Amino acid sequence: MDVATVFEIVRGLHILAVIAWMAGLLFLPRLYAYDAEQADKPEPLRSEMRALLRPWQRRLLKIILNPAMIASWIFGVWMIEIHVVQFGQGWGFLAQPWMATKLIGVVLLSGWHGYLAGQFRRIQAGTSTRTGRFWRMTNEIPFLLAIIMVLSVTTQWVF
Ligand code: HEM
Repeated sequence: MDVATVFEIVRGLHILAVIAWMAGLLFLPRLYAYDAEQADKPEPLRSEMRALLRPWQRRLLKIILNPAMIASWIFGVWMIEIHVVQFGQGWGFLAQPWMATKLIGVVLLSGWHGYLAGQFRRIQAGTSTRTGRFWRMTNEIPFLLAIIMVLSVTTQWVF
């Protein structure tokens, strides 16, 4: 198989992994918001709701979010390798403004993922102080970053 075909397959797999990653990043804070909003509910309703929500949070993080982030990085870095080495574009490929913007975006998105994973441990331990309002307000962060990243790669800042 020639390298151009490999590149197109990897690009498709990258987009699929990114779709799964984004879906998880948009849904997990919503589960956190429902969890936080149980604080003013009476017992035993509060404990019952949290006993329902927390395994969902765990499964979403471990089965969807973490593997999807790893796959997005693997396929993304693989395409960088093809550009830099196989297509002979050199490391200057990474310095192009659109690619640099994309990379800053993925570092920020990965940081947000790490923050959500840290909060997962706190929520499970019952030590999170974040409110439902906080989770609803920050819910759009990944989508705003995605807009910047997708438009960086599709336009390559040529307009
Ligand atoms: C996780 C680390 C990531 C790395 C290292 C990475 C790297 C790359 C590279 C090198 C390309 C090929 C660009 C080209 O040759 O045209 C690409 C394509 C693409 N990336 Fe990523 N990416 C990452 C994450 C993301 C994320 C989080 C999004 C969206 C939210 C995204 C959206 C896209 C899209 C839509 C394309 C296809 C653009 C096209 O060729 O039409 N990537 N990525």
